[in-house]
Amino acid sequence: MATELNRFSKTLTQEVTNPAAQAMLYGIGLKEEDMAKPQIGIASTGYEGNPCNMHLNGLSVYVKQGITANNMVGLIFNTIGVSDGMTNGNDGMRYSLPSRDIIADSIETVVAAQWYDGVIAVVGCDKNMPGAVMAMARLDRPAIMVYGGTIRSGHYKGQKLDIVSAFEALGKKFANNISDEDYKGVIQNSIPGQGACGGMYTANTMAASIEAMGLSLPFSSSYPATHEGKQEECKKIGAAMKNLLELNITPRDIITKKSLENALTLVMALGGSTNAALHFLAIARAADLPLTLDDIQAISNKVPFIADLKPSGKYFMEDILAIGGVPAVMKYLYSKGMIHGDCLTVTGKTLAEDLAEAPDLNFENQKIIFPLETPIKESGHIQILYGNLAPTGSVAKITGKEGLTFDGEAKICEHETEIITMLSKGEIKAGHVVVIRNAGPKGGPGMSEMLKPTSAVMGAGLGDKIALITDGRFSGGTHGFVVGHITPEAFDGGPIALVKDGDRITIDANTRQLIVHISNEEMAERKAAWIQPEPKFTKGMLGRYIRTVKSASEGCVTDEA
Ligand code: FES
Repeated sequence: MATELNRFSKTLTQEVTNPAAQAMLYGIGLKEEDMAKPQIGIASTGYEGNPCNMHLNGLSVYVKQGITANNMVGLIFNTIGVSDGMTNGNDGMRYSLPSRDIIADSIETVVAAQWYDGVIAVVGCDKNMPGAVMAMARLDRPAIMVYGGTIRSGHYKGQKLDIVSAFEALGKKFANNISDEDYKGVIQNSIPGQGACGGMYTANTMAASIEAMGLSLPFSSSYPATHEGKQEECKKIGAAMKNLLELNITPRDIITKKSLENALTLVMALGGSTNAALHFLAIARAADLPLTLDDIQAISNKVPFIADLKPSGKYFMEDILAIGGVPAVMKYLYSKGMIHGDCLTVTGKTLAEDLAEAPDLNFENQKIIFPLETPIKESGHIQILYGNLAPTGSVAKITGKEGLTFDGEAKICEHETEIITMLSKGEIKAGHVVVIRNAGPKGGPGMSEMLKPTSAVMGAGLGDKIALITDGRFSGGTHGFVVGHITPEAFDGGPIALVKDGDRITIDANTRQLIVHISNEEMAERKAAWIQPEPKFTKGMLGRYIRTVKSASEGCVTDEA
């Protein structure tokens, strides 16, 4: 446990060695009495361009007030955010996953360069949260993540709507299943204001699981963006940060193998996004912890899927608060022995101590969370598949609602946009396994999400009749029989590059195999004839990304040799 003096040593060092730094701090308005106070970087991904981030600069001001009230100096800086909702289905999506690593790099850079004593990240979209946590793990200075909060649902003609409603309306339009007026009505009313996409999609998955991991205050993931509790949470952050500084609790005290397991347990119980697999692999690597796809499968094997939340279910994240929030779900899982209670959290207490103060889940008056004894599915919905199509792994989302196996004929899309054209021409038919390739981290580049294709398939009424496999990713909003993160990716000559139209493919969640039914000799012949495509970018951020990114089975990290 460090003393307060240790924490103050940075500013004393600055005073002795860098009078310019002192002068600049006076220049930004600090007074002499501020010079010995801890300096806390407040990283905001706020920007006006999308609902997930539009309010974060405002929340950062509340965070700063709490820091000031606790006799510290809060200094707000901004980093970037890329909205997956807005980039899905277009080439901008290439930048989405890389933005996670830019966020990590930028927070690491500012906090380390300015030598802040601690960091608070105010974040609100899919990549912002893992990016911020990766930076916290690298820096290992006291840190807290504040989630911007989920959006409220939209409404049109008595239906509750969210971002996926807008994508699925497009599929209905292709299939002539929606009038022009209703299409417009859905688009104009799906997003009523600030907050992250409202189902158990990637943002809410990461917020809930990072809270379970202990890096945000209890209820951070449960308060909607417009709930008064969100502002209150921001104001409490100052006291929490002061406590972390005094106890010298740093992210690597909180991010441990056990707390990663807690996070992934919650992902499985809630039916969270497959992106969580990718991001927790990356967070673990940033913290120098061993975590593999097989560890994720082991958790999936023992944790039932118990939440009737969108995308596959009925309810929204905003509904969780009314039944006790994420802490109530965690408390229930802890009472059943599924959560490690001895992990430290940013409250300075153990998770078990935090959960002792959480409300109890009541199974009599709510239908969102099912008892573990009568789950939606006996094991987790995230399944790691291997086989001759995915020798180093793939990530499937199988809720069981679509069945556990699929056997069908390959239909190749060299780019995700092709499926939209094929659907509109009626070329995608029941029994097809649509293969979208060249969408991996290097080949895409950027490992795009396939929300537009999967929503279009749903909207066209083919959701339970076809399967979709890819070396790209799926949005947390995706549902249906889908397998993503296939490795090695097509760009690297993985077997997915060698599949042809009409090949028979079997997806089997029971045996966890993804198989293309061709002989080893045939596979070898095709491989011998395969020519690696030229990278789509050689310069700029995407050119560098292609050269540095690891495979999806290694979390797509970019900072390793
Ligand atoms: Fe930001 Fe969905 S686009 S949370």
